[in-house]
Amino acid sequence: MTEPTASRRTVLCCAAVALAGAAAAGCSSSSGDDGKAASSGPVDLGPAADVPVGGGKVYREQAVVVTQPAAGEYKAFSAKCTHAGCLVNGVVKEQIQCLCHGSRFGISDGAVQDGPAPKPLPAYQVAVQNGNLQVTKG
Ligand code: FES
Repeated sequence: MTEPTASRRTVLCCAAVALAGAAAAGCSSSSGDDGKAASSGPVDLGPAADVPVGGGKVYREQAVVVTQPAAGEYKAFSAKCTHAGCLVNGVVKEQIQCLCHGSRFGISDGAVQDGPAPKPLPAYQVAVQNGNLQVTKG
């Protein structure tokens, strides 16, 4: 009598594992789609005038931060912190800041200036066309 119960438990356990696997696969497939869309071509971020000289702007939806270290010189970086993957919060005092654990990155090169982040923010290509920022993720 204990045999059928054990078999049923095994089946239920395996079904739960299979469901968990499907959920995990759904998550990773979703982030894969984001990557595909990102690398398919330039992304229009809107007016370049939104990015202040000596500062920057975080585009959370696109996970991009654009800076303007000098007038007319735009730089774009991934907004995902290289420490633990938080999105950076903003640009203050010529530094891109991640408030999760305090990392700070330079607005000219994305280099780590402070905090636990191990690597610079990856750079993207950025251009201005008809007054709008066009960013191409590598
Ligand atoms: S995730 Fe940015 S400092 Fe930790």
